[in-house]
Order: sequence, then C-alpha cells, then structure tokens
Amino acid sequence: MTAPHVVVAVVIAAASLACASQSPHRGYEYMPDMARSVPYDTFAPNPVTRNGITQQMPVAGTIPRGFLPLHYSGTAADAERAGRELFNPNAHTPTTIGQGRRLYETFCLVCHGVSGDGDGPLVPMIPNPPAYSSERVRSMPAGHLFHVITYGSGRMPSYASQIPANDRWLIVGYVDTLRTRRPEAQR
Ligand code: HEC
Repeated sequence: MTAPHVVVAVVIAAASLACASQSPHRGYEYMPDMARSVPYDTFAPNPVTRNGITQQMPVAGTIPRGFLPLHYSGTAADAERAGRELFNPNAHTPTTIGQGRRLYETFCLVCHGVSGDGDGPLVPMIPNPPAYSSERVRSMPAGHLFHVITYGSGRMPSYASQIPANDRWLIVGYVDTLRTRRPEAQR
C-alpha cells in the first residue's frame, strides 16, 4: 500500500505541472466539457441557422405563455376604445380589493394620495393629479382606467413595465372603490 505522504506529493506535483505559468501549452484539462460549452453560445455565430446567428426571433404570431397582447396605442382615441372593449377580469371581492389596495399604495399613492384626491406626498414637486372623484375620472369605464395605467395619460407616465397586466386590473378594481364611494362634495 502506498504511504499517504507519497500520494500527497504526487497530487501536488501534478497540480503544479497543470498550472505552469510560463508554458506555451495549456495545462491538462480534466473534464473539458465543464469548461467548454458544447451548445452554441447565445450571441455566437452559428453555421447551422439560415441567418448565421444563434439567438433567433420568436416565430411570427407566437406569444409568450401568460402574455395577452394589447392592440392599442397611447392616444386619447385608443383610451376611449379600450374603455369600450376591455373589461376587468377580476370580480370585486374583499380579496381582490385588498390586493388592489396594496398595489395602489405601492405605485399610485405617492402622487394620487391615500384616498385618490390628487394630494399625494409628491404633489408639490409634480403637477397636481386630478381627484378620482372628478367628473372625468368617475365617468371613465374600467378599460379606460386600465389604458391610463398601461400607456400613461398627459403628464402621467406609463406603468406597464413596472406592473404586470393583472396587477393593473387589481389596481383598477381598487380605484373603482375610491372614485365611487366619494360624494362630489368631498373633492
Ligand atoms: C408620478 C406621479 C404619478 C403616479 C405615481 C401616478 N400618477 Fe396618475 N396622474 C398623475 C398626473 C400628474 C396626472 C394628470 C395627467 C395630465 O392630465 O396631464 C395623472 C392622471 C391620472 C388619471 C386621469 C387620467 C386622465 O386621462 O384624465 C388616472 C385615472 C390616474 N392618473 C391613475 C393612476 C393610477 C391608477 C396610478 C398607479 C398605477 C397612477 N395614476 C400613478 C401622476 C401620477
């Protein structure tokens, strides 16, 4: 049986040979597949595909799972069309209202205020948003509200990149409760 110190010496000798810094040759590669990727790298040229690149566009007409395409632009006319065509997929229940409220408090409250009166803490620094109890916002169909959050409106920016579509609908549900339970006199 080999003495343990001989084994240690052989391992150290092998390791130092593998890393000789001045040698023009590569060290011995143990399991090269681990270091060198067998598949083509995402941005590498590719001799197999027709256009010579590895990362391909999705096939025309396909959509990612769970993604609902919206065929609107950010114009006022499309905001009104969204009001006619889009409907909140969530029922008004204590759960959905509670979820919408948390999202509203995260994304909208800073400007629109706790009760949607347009008096959030940021207001001296940004233009005064309209109260949700105003005639214009109260008469917006839910789909129009969804369009405002998705594409922005006037000086209000789009929130589509921060808030996924169903979360936007949950916010619409909560804004519904803010704008309808308030009598006009409280503006
Ligand atoms: C950075 C501040 C800011 C945030 C955050 C913000 N808004 Fe606004 N919002 C505004 C301003 C300013 C206006 C007025 C825009 C105008 O008329 O030019 C506005 C307008 C609106 C309107 C009326 C749009 C119209 O066409 O009359 C609605 C509805 C609205 N916001 C909902 C929301 C909701 C819901 C959220 C959260 C997802 C939100 N806003 C987040 C600043 C903000």
